[in-house]
Amino acid sequence: MALKRVDYDENQHAVYARGRRMPAEALARWMGRFAAHLPARRPLTLIDLGSGVGRLTPALAETFGGPVWGVEPSAKMRAVARAEAAHPAVTYLAGEAAAIPLPGASADAVLMFLSLHHVPDRAAAAAEIRRVLKPGGRVLVRSPFSDRMTGGWWQRFFPRALEIERQMFPTLAEAAGVFAAVGLETLALDVVNETYAASAAEAAAKLRLRAISTFEHMTEAEIEEGFARMDAHVAADPGELPDTGESDLLVLG
Ligand SMILES: C[S@@+](CC[C@H](N)C(=O)[O-])C[C@H]1O[C@@H](n2cnc3c(N)ncnc32)[C@H](O)[C@@H]1O
Repeated sequence: MALKRVDYDENQHAVYARGRRMPAEALARWMGRFAAHLPARRPLTLIDLGSGVGRLTPALAETFGGPVWGVEPSAKMRAVARAEAAHPAVTYLAGEAAAIPLPGASADAVLMFLSLHHVPDRAAAAAEIRRVLKPGGRVLVRSPFSDRMTGGWWQRFFPRALEIERQMFPTLAEAAGVFAAVGLETLALDVVNETYAASAAEAAAKLRLRAISTFEHMTEAEIEEGFARMDAHVAADPGELPDTGESDLLVLG
């Protein structure tokens, strides 16, 4: 059965910034990985496509100089970004991957950080990304791929989580294929290690906010059962370190 679309105007906007906050060290690690795939000159113009509450957007401006355009379809996610993630070189715009409100050949790079799987028409999005990229520009896609995911720390408590996520995310070949169809070839598949919490107790507290769209495809009963399992696990060893996740970064150009 196809999964319903997740509308970030409904629930996620109210919890995302707290539930998915990235430690400074993780943010710096991502910026370093992006920089490794982009030209050394500054400034670079970037589009953060599906910028959400601006979790990464100001750091992109700090790292690359900007301007950085945060393009985001959810009005409520954009409102949080404007209030909590403002930066002089960042502008948040209404738009989506298949309708980017920027001129052609205007960006050195387009970042899609955990947004590709939400895009209903990926072929149209790839063509639109091709349009806004300058010649030689790069696309950075941070996404799990359904044929490569093995499940992280929290998924063990929710037996259906991995199965749901395999439906949510494209395979690597599917993702690469939509970009190849518009002439954007795969240049690299980078694997980035990241830790989002300093302890299992902190990871559990963030997870409780349900700022992960996987929960929107579960029943209340299975969510509560999962949290009960998680609480018992954490109570036994609150200082346990959650596993370091291995995250894929697909680079195209
Ligand atoms: C998991 S959040 C990631 C937000 C941000 N990139 C981050 O990492 O914090 C996914 C975002 O993609 C947005 N989104 C949904 N459909 C989209 C589309 N068609 N084009 C671009 N972004 C979309 C959602 O509204 C949401 O803000």
